[in-house]
Amino acid sequence: MGASRIRHKILVIHGPNLNMLGTREPDVYGNQTLEEIDTALRAQADSLEIQIETFQSNHEGDIVDKIQQAHDSFDGIIINPAAYTHTSIAIRDALSLLNIPVVEIHISNIYRREPFRHTSMISARVTAQISGFGPHGYMLALEGLAQLLKD
Ligand code: DQA
Repeated sequence: MGASRIRHKILVIHGPNLNMLGTREPDVYGNQTLEEIDTALRAQADSLEIQIETFQSNHEGDIVDKIQQAHDSFDGIIINPAAYTHTSIAIRDALSLLNIPVVEIHISNIYRREPFRHTSMISARVTAQISGFGPHGYMLALEGLAQLLKD
């Protein structure tokens, strides 16, 4: 890894209750903890020569603040807004402030679940969506975003 190489910076945002992964409905979300997912993401980011920052919050306004701050400091965002996916116009509007690629990721396939999960408030504002690959979806999101930034 050349020290002088410009590295893309990606922000990974995890929404409410994702801090409980590992114990939270393992039949739906798997057994991996959020810390394990973040560790795997960091390893993959290193191999892709990308810098990542991970952030989790249970609070809608904190997620909005974080997206606003990403404005001129990140090259792309990976976001799992969790339950806010289905309700948050505020997160949608914050994403609309940015002109960097955004990948929406869901661990479960939201379209196979209850009808209220079939609507994503943010999907019309994102570059791509990944849903249903389990925690591995985060790795796919990072790989896809890295490729987009390279292109
Ligand atoms: C989720 C799906 C949402 O419907 C749910 O509220 C979550 C997690 C997922 O990753 O599958 O908390 O975003």
